[in-house]
This record gives sequence, C-alpha cells and structure tokens, in this order.
Amino acid sequence: MEKEIWKPGNMLYPLPAVMVSVADPRGRHNIITIAWAGTVCTNPPMVSISVRPERHSFGILQETGEFVVNLTTRELVYATDYCGVKSGRDVDKFRELGLTALPAREVGAPLIGESPVNIECRVRTVTPLGSHHMFLADVVAVHADRQYMDERNKFHLEQADPIVYSHGVYYACGEALGTFGFSVKKG
Ligand SMILES: Cc1cc2nc3c(=O)[nH]c(=O)nc-3n(C[C@H](O)[C@H](O)[C@H](O)COP(=O)(O)O)c2cc1C
Repeated sequence: MEKEIWKPGNMLYPLPAVMVSVADPRGRHNIITIAWAGTVCTNPPMVSISVRPERHSFGILQETGEFVVNLTTRELVYATDYCGVKSGRDVDKFRELGLTALPAREVGAPLIGESPVNIECRVRTVTPLGSHHMFLADVVAVHADRQYMDERNKFHLEQADPIVYSHGVYYACGEALGTFGFSVKKG
C-alpha cells in the first residue's frame, strides 16, 4: 500500500451533483449544478451548498435566501452538465432544456418537475470560505415523485436511476450491495 502524497484538495468522491433551482425577485428562474452540496443535520433537517460569488445564481441566492435542490438522474445527466457549464446570464436553462418549472410550496424558487426529489430550502447563514460561500439552509419541504412509490407507499429512489459525480465523471449507480445495518443483522 504505497501512497502518493498530494497537495491538499477536494477528493471526497463520489458525490451527488444536484441541480439547484432559484428565482430572482422578478420570478426569473435559473438552474445551477452543484457538487459541493451536503446533508449537515437530520433534525432540524439542513443542507449546505457552496457557491462561487461569480456565478449568476450567487446574487439570486443572496438576495432571496431560497433555493430548491433537485436530485439528478440518468435521464437528467445532459441537463445536469449543461446547467454546470452554461450561465443563466446568457441562457434560459429551463427553456433550452425543455424542463418544467413547477411552483414550490414554501419558497419562491421553482421545482424541476422532471427530478424525482425536490428539496425546498431556506438559507439560514451565508459563510464566506474563500473560493466559495457556504449557504447553510433549512429544509422546509420535500417533494417525492409518486411514480416511484409502491403500493405500501415506500419510495424507490433507485427506480429513478440516480447519478453520482466522481472526480470529473458522471456515473449511474450500480447494484445494491447491502441495506443499512446489514453488517450486524442476524440470519
Ligand atoms: C458537475 C458540476 C458541479 C459543479 N459544482 C459547483 C459547485 O459546487 N459550486 C459552484 O459554485 N459551481 C459549481 N459548478 C459550476 C456551475 O454550475 C457553473 O459555473 C454554472 O454555469 C453556473 O451557472 P449560473 O451562472 O447560471 O449560476 C459545477 C459544475 C459542474 C458541471
């Protein structure tokens, strides 16, 4: 096990790459792809996203303090990448991609209808860290697409074919290897 030592950097992979939707005070929608996103607390439910000040979405996030995290899928992989390389300054990403903006329940930012899970968030604090500012937010509502629910109301996210992002590459998720706690379950 001979290791090379690299300079400090971000190597926490794989990660979700999510599509974060926002709306400016005049109701103009935008989507930014974010990989620096994380779950940070269960109760109260909280997430963080880290955004560079030069992004078009940054000013909207600062102004409104609201966003929606939309989970991404195999079907959305093109849109995920597109929203991560094109700026809302130049294009209407909803229109270019033919995505459906649905009204959220608690926030002004829209849901992306094609995403299987939409997490409505309200910003609590904004922390400048360096290249990125971290927006720490409360989850204020979650939408789950009914088409992935079985007759017992169990949600099957795997049926939506979620994707991950690892060191510059998008991947589909492979086979299930075990369920939570399987390592200590008997029989
Ligand atoms: C996979 C992927 C992940 C990204 N993650 C982040 C991120 O965590 N934070 C960030 O500021 N930009 C991130 N970006 C870059 C922005 O999504 C990109 O600059 C986008 O065009 C900004 O859109 P906007 O100007 O409309 O806000 C990522 C791009 C890709 C492709």
